[in-house]
Amino acid sequence: MELADACPPSQPVPNLLLSAVHYLLLTGVNDPLRRYYPSLSVEAESPESAFPAFRKFSQVHAEKILPLLEERLVQTNEVGRCAYLYPSMLTLSAMFPERPIHLIELGSSAGLNLLWDHYRYQYGEDEPVGLMASALTVNSSWRGEKRPDFSLPTPKISRRTGVDLNPIDLMNQDQITWLQALVWPEQFERRSRLTKAVRIAMVNPVEMVTGDAVEELPGLLSAVAPTDVAVVYHTHFINQLSDDSRARLLATVQEVGSKRDLIHIHNNIEPHLHATVFRSGERIEVPLAKTDGHANWIEWLV
Ligand SMILES: C[S@@+](CC[C@H](N)C(=O)[O-])C[C@H]1O[C@@H](n2cnc3c(N)ncnc32)[C@H](O)[C@@H]1O
Repeated sequence: MELADACPPSQPVPNLLLSAVHYLLLTGVNDPLRRYYPSLSVEAESPESAFPAFRKFSQVHAEKILPLLEERLVQTNEVGRCAYLYPSMLTLSAMFPERPIHLIELGSSAGLNLLWDHYRYQYGEDEPVGLMASALTVNSSWRGEKRPDFSLPTPKISRRTGVDLNPIDLMNQDQITWLQALVWPEQFERRSRLTKAVRIAMVNPVEMVTGDAVEELPGLLSAVAPTDVAVVYHTHFINQLSDDSRARLLATVQEVGSKRDLIHIHNNIEPHLHATVFRSGERIEVPLAKTDGHANWIEWLV
């Protein structure tokens, strides 16, 4: 608990503390705690009995853990969320037929979710959809009766811009290791998805802006071509904002949306995945889906 106290107030504490320890083990700190991590041991021991070793590790390596808690951010880039972003993009861009879209992702981490059209998708037993030749298949499953219309055309993407306080540099192995450390040790599918997505992103670089997304957003929106539809989106980002920043973000979207066509896709504001669409000055609310945090299941609502 003393260590956890060093985490900045904006950060989800369990994620930061557990990831800092995982990161040290992944980078070669040799300690008996490794035996409990399936990401490091072929036959890992049960986590039920891990706490004494975890506590000892935390005490012995406190000096290595503290700077990580102070300097690193919870930047988990969960590509699984593209399982709902992909149908959302198809559905919403169909409200603007033939118009190219300019993607602006806030809190984009490594930018992996700016490449949702580069992945193949497998929903339960359904026929796969998306980019069939992709090296990465994102798996998810449906709940409920409704399904998105995957026969809708994939929109032309004119530009992809991500903005983050600390964009992850995919050419820097240490930063990739931090991304891997943010994945829970026993989650093999997530780790494999991340590794494949990183490889895809390395050869499909996107534009990344360093800065506070709320401050940068007006400037980024003014750079969107008049012929394009601006698509501002963010997942698991708004929980890291102050109430004031969050209000300013929504005010910017409203102000710009009253003047130009804009789609705003977000979670963590409404109780579910939701879009606000501004079309010729009209504001349209579109509840999109209920889903779990990593999009393992999706209940489509449209
Ligand atoms: C939990 S991660 C989510 C990453 C990605 N959106 C996803 O769903 O996979 C949150 C990201 O938001 C970024 N972030 C937090 N506050 C921010 C701010 N004010 N401006 C820009 N980025 C921010 C963090 O650096 C981090 O990369």
